[in-house]
Amino acid sequence: MGSHIKIINTLMNMNHIWFLSVLVLTNFLHAEASCIWGNSSASCFNSSLTTPPTDVPRNILYLELNYNNIPYLSPEHFTGLVKLLKLMIVSSNVTDIDADTFTAVPNLGELYLASNSLTALEQGYNLIKEIETETFEHQQDLTTLHLSHNNLEFIDKSMFKGLDSLKILHLDNNKISSLPVDVFENTPSLVNIDLNQNNINALHIGTFKSLSKLVVLELSENKLSSIQTGTFEGLIKLNYLNLAFNNISTLEPKII
Ligand SMILES: *[C@@H]1O[C@H](CO)[C@@H](O)[C@H](O)[C@H]1NC(C)=O
Ligand SMILES: *[C@@H]1O[C@H](CO)[C@@H](O)[C@H](O)[C@H]1NC(C)=O
Ligand SMILES: *[C@@H]1O[C@H](CO)[C@@H](O)[C@H](O)[C@H]1NC(C)=O
Ligand SMILES: *[C@@H]1O[C@H](CO)[C@@H](O)[C@H](O)[C@H]1NC(C)=O
Repeated sequence: MGSHIKIINTLMNMNHIWFLSVLVLTNFLHAEASCIWGNSSASCFNSSLTTPPTDVPRNILYLELNYNNIPYLSPEHFTGLVKLLKLMIVSSNVTDIDADTFTAVPNLGELYLASNSLTALEQGYNLIKEIETETFEHQQDLTTLHLSHNNLEFIDKSMFKGLDSLKILHLDNNKISSLPVDVFENTPSLVNIDLNQNNINALHIGTFKSLSKLVVLELSENKLSSIQTGTFEGLIKLNYLNLAFNNISTLEPKII
């Protein structure tokens, strides 16, 4: 009898332990399902995150946060990720980015913010104002910036200030209607600019004059009705210019 009771007790204990292990295990699996990481990268794809994770190893080089619901980014979210080279936050409902967010990741080389809800209204206007002052000020290593598929309307003339190494700039599928004449003055390394599918209705002479390394310029599906002589002045390396699906009826000679 004694041993019978003992067995029951053991089973009860085991049940208890089993129940606890299931809880522990469930938490563990949940954590694993949200983010998976190895020595150099972490991925939190489609993980219902509302803020970037704080528990990934601080020495990772790559962080992927695509398909989450992260409306707001600030420097605290990236504190200590000093080795980060590539950050992807695509399709994650990002609307607002604090001014100095990316100063926390001084070695960032590639930033993908495509398919979010960045706008030039309310929060978005802050984004642009703040980009003007500090956001990219210390990002000399940034080579790739993807802001495609947002709702950007205005590009401030100082928006890309400090991006000395920027090679690839994707701004396609936004609502940009004009480009300030000196917007590319501080981005001499640009090789590829994609402005397809915006509302650009005119280009100022000299807008691209500092871009002696630019090879590809995409301007299709905008609202351009004419191109003035001198518009593409300075683009000595250009070998691909896309002006399809605008409303250009005549081209002046020597536009390039
Ligand atoms: C991760 O780092 C550990 C310790 O430094 C090393 O033994 C292991 O091989 C590394 N794994 C990979 C996939 O690089
Ligand atoms: C994200 O996960 C949900 C639920 O598991 C799934 O229905 C959806 O298709 C996933 N989305 C993507 C882009 O993988
Ligand atoms: C983004 O927000 C929309 C509307 O609030 C929502 O339907 C969608 O699921 C969100 N996307 C993700 C990836 O959570
Ligand atoms: C296209 O340009 C013509 C004049 O060249 C103008 O009459 C017409 O309204 C323009 N169409 C659009 C959609 O802007």
